[in-house]
Amino acid sequence: MKQKITKAVFPVAGLGSRFLPATKATAKEMLPVVDKPLIQYAVEEAVAAGITDMVFITGRNKRAIEDHFDKAYELEATLEAGGKTELLRLVQSVVPSHVNCIYIRQAEPLGLGHAVLCAKPVIQDEPFAVLLADDLIDGEPPIVKQMVDVFAQHQCSILGVQDVPRAHTKQYGIVSSSNIEPNVEKVHGIVEKPKPEVAPSTLAVVGRYILTPRIFHHLENVAPGAGGELQLTDGIAALMLEETLLAYRYNGIRYDCGSKLGYLQAQVAFGLKHAELRTEFAEYLKTVC
Ligand code: UTP
Repeated sequence: MKQKITKAVFPVAGLGSRFLPATKATAKEMLPVVDKPLIQYAVEEAVAAGITDMVFITGRNKRAIEDHFDKAYELEATLEAGGKTELLRLVQSVVPSHVNCIYIRQAEPLGLGHAVLCAKPVIQDEPFAVLLADDLIDGEPPIVKQMVDVFAQHQCSILGVQDVPRAHTKQYGIVSSSNIEPNVEKVHGIVEKPKPEVAPSTLAVVGRYILTPRIFHHLENVAPGAGGELQLTDGIAALMLEETLLAYRYNGIRYDCGSKLGYLQAQVAFGLKHAELRTEFAEYLKTVC
């Protein structure tokens, strides 16, 4: 029987040290692009792919994320009393009513692999999506939907990938692969952050994954890497030795909102697309450039 993806994991327990002091008291994933936090873009992407269970792996700054997806009684009552129906609708529609939000605490930031492993009690024996909200990807259809469609056909783990300049390989997991159909590669190897001169290719893994539940077994058995962190890449490398692993070249534009430059680029791109702002913002940009 063909399996469907109904659950998504959002690791949001990182330190976000590149954005200090903004991330001192709040998660990086709560930083807004124009008027929506990064995590909401990611949740909307998952909803658009038919996913109904959102599993957040939270850390020391968990409160803001839980509050964002919860009912806001006082705020809603105030907006209602003030007749601000449009804003009320906006606040109430942050998550559709058929969507469940589940929170799991990662007690210590022991790495992305460890964060994903924390989701095991909820995911159990199903394939699932992982979205790193600081990779904001603008695509139509949304990227996770594109990947869920590839999964529907192949029923195996899939990594979202894009070509990067060779000089940038040390910022990513890099795959070696062979093409099997348009935009789909079979992965033969994956290495974390290789130097440009030894990188097996320039095909980089970005913050979108579909994984089979067998990944948990491997994450439980891989040794911690640099800094005592459990690397998701190491778990995936072990998974690849026993199951088919695909890489999907998604169709869309990615903004690395974990870096200051990528975050500013996202503000400009989304500002220029924003229904209320685009004309005035474009005029303003002409005056500064
Ligand atoms: P990053 O590598 O971007 O790390 O994590 P970070 O701590 O968030 O940010 P910097 O590098 O210090 O600025 C990639 C993703 O994995 C999550 C992060 O929240 C982010 O979505 N993560 C990372 C966890 O949930 N737990 C961890 O232990 C590590």
